[in-house]
Amino acid sequence: MSRTAALVPAAGRGERLGPGAPKALREIGGVPMLVHAVKALCSAPNIDVVVVAAPADAVEQTRALLSSVAGATDVEVVSGGETRAESVARALIALPDDVDVVLVHDAARPLIPVELVTNVVNAVRAGHRAVVPGLAVVDTIKKVDAAGIVQETVPRADLRAIQTPQGFDRALLQMAHAGVDPDALTVTDDAGLVEAMGIEVLVIPGHEDAFKVTTPSDIVLAEAILARRRAAGAVN
Ligand code: C5P
Repeated sequence: MSRTAALVPAAGRGERLGPGAPKALREIGGVPMLVHAVKALCSAPNIDVVVVAAPADAVEQTRALLSSVAGATDVEVVSGGETRAESVARALIALPDDVDVVLVHDAARPLIPVELVTNVVNAVRAGHRAVVPGLAVVDTIKKVDAAGIVQETVPRADLRAIQTPQGFDRALLQMAHAGVDPDALTVTDDAGLVEAMGIEVLVIPGHEDAFKVTTPSDIVLAEAILARRRAAGAVN
């Protein structure tokens, strides 16, 4: 039986949030963001293995934090890298052999609904080799030059804001990462690497709660969503 894994790059410093602990370890509702994310992944019925790429100086702390979260899911913690791409590559190396479908999920998206995880896995298992969740864009997007002069207004109806978890056929994701300069700061998601190989990527509906916590106001929003869920009887 082939298994499904989720890789969680969680080694970013989160400088846009201001000084403090590495971003993945900052708390939402008294619980580190990474713990929220891993709990959601472990709750998905079709995730068997989770591999977290933790900040190099917080690997043991991360293992301890996650020790009570796993349940029936295997949770491994490895040391992350200097860039997101390097963190994903390090987690890929730690994957067991019997995994054939891999999701990559940013720890900075702590409130992903379990259903979104399940939908991504199902779409990959249905035969799409690369699947990403995305939402319609609400702002008008303009392309500008270095001086801030508008070059183009991109038709909004054609745009999607892409989230994680992104799902892949394992061999494809490994091939995509094999060709990457691990220091490349321009690699912001995994599907981009697959697109560069000329492979089709499917966008499925994303979810508002899957937003990335980047700035202090995102923490306020995440706290509010969590409070609403807790009031409605959710466990985390
Ligand atoms: O930089 P950004 O906020 O887009 O990071 C997205 C995800 O990549 C976060 O979960 C972050 O922890 C992770 N990351 C990483 N290793 C790095 C940089 C970012 O695992 N060196």
